[in-house]
Amino acid sequence: MTGGIACYKIAELTRLLTKAGATVQVVMTEAATQFITPVTMQALSGRPVYTSQWDGRVPNNMAHIDLSREADAIVIAPASTDFLAKLAHGFADDLLSTLCVARDCPLLVVPAMNRQMWQNPATQRNVAQLRADGIETLGPDSGPQACGEIGDGRMLEPEAIYEAIVSFFAPKVLAGRRLLITAGPTFEPLDPVRGITNRSSGKMGFALARAAQQAGAEVHLVAGPVALATPWGVYREDVQTAQQMYDAVMREVPDADVFIGVAAVADWRVDHVAAHKIKKTAEQRMPTFTFVENPDILASVAALPDPPYCVGFAAESGDLEVHGEEKRARKKVPLLIGNLGPLTFGRDDNEVVLFEAAGRTPLPRAAKAALAQTLVAEIARRLPDTSIIS
Ligand code: C5P
Repeated sequence: MTGGIACYKIAELTRLLTKAGATVQVVMTEAATQFITPVTMQALSGRPVYTSQWDGRVPNNMAHIDLSREADAIVIAPASTDFLAKLAHGFADDLLSTLCVARDCPLLVVPAMNRQMWQNPATQRNVAQLRADGIETLGPDSGPQACGEIGDGRMLEPEAIYEAIVSFFAPKVLAGRRLLITAGPTFEPLDPVRGITNRSSGKMGFALARAAQQAGAEVHLVAGPVALATPWGVYREDVQTAQQMYDAVMREVPDADVFIGVAAVADWRVDHVAAHKIKKTAEQRMPTFTFVENPDILASVAALPDPPYCVGFAAESGDLEVHGEEKRARKKVPLLIGNLGPLTFGRDDNEVVLFEAAGRTPLPRAAKAALAQTLVAEIARRLPDTSIIS
């Protein structure tokens, strides 16, 4: 940690990392300790915090060597303007800078500074140099800053830093692939205030989008109305209706190598959406609706002359074995992932069966995040090898 008001957010990042099972060794510059105390960071990381190169607590008295030798990566967060300059020039005049020069592990920096400091040509030169040296830069973000100004330089939020770190370590089985994913429910309006939707939470689709991004894919996520944060590095497009989802998918699909339809798309919409709220009247106590069929997005994509590799999802309320394979064959997709709807909607875990021409493969119940990583690996294994094509 280097000096900056964003230091307080690293308390949360430390908590996220330790909760996920990481060992976090905190090293702070003198300036960082002006913003948050080593005591706080020690309590959250569960390890003594180092701030000085003269600290005698490391057994051989060589904190600048030993601390990096046991690390899989060093993450500088927040990374101040001054520290980026030091790194770019290889300065080693305090514990943290010396540790970075002496490291034998990857280095990730998370810049946090005022927008003018970020835009300063010297800072930009230094960042370009760091990138050329193979140092990973995470962010910065854009938005309101502690100084009251608005612009680039704001540190990424702790959740985003956490996801970027996880992403850094994930095997890149989808490197160079472009994925188009639908997620969540759709909402079919009846009138300006009412509509028909379903119980899909979007969690499985978002988990897949996150896992695919972490595996190196470029991900375009078309999301129905859900209350979920956009996974780090994923491009998200929000839609409401099945028709809007269809339009977004058809626009993006020419660029996609893989299409995964996770969304629970409404099969029908009303033929006429009332312009005003439908009222109960003495004459008509109950409205009558006529439904028309929505386009089947997955089947339409699969029927394209040169379709991407298509993966469908099916949430059934029973008889998964029968419906899963039948649905896969009907929609003409190579892979369909079946689950029992009532046992997945809104939950954080899921149990699925893979259906393909060669047969079925059940996967054990797992957290959706872990399951998404397994599914990404399964999908990656089935993709045509582009190195052969090109
Ligand atoms: O037929 P069913 O709705 O159960 O099929 C589920 C699969 O088809 C999912 O992959 C879903 O995203 C996709 N689907 C679609 N467009 C629809 C209905 C379903 O893309 N109109």
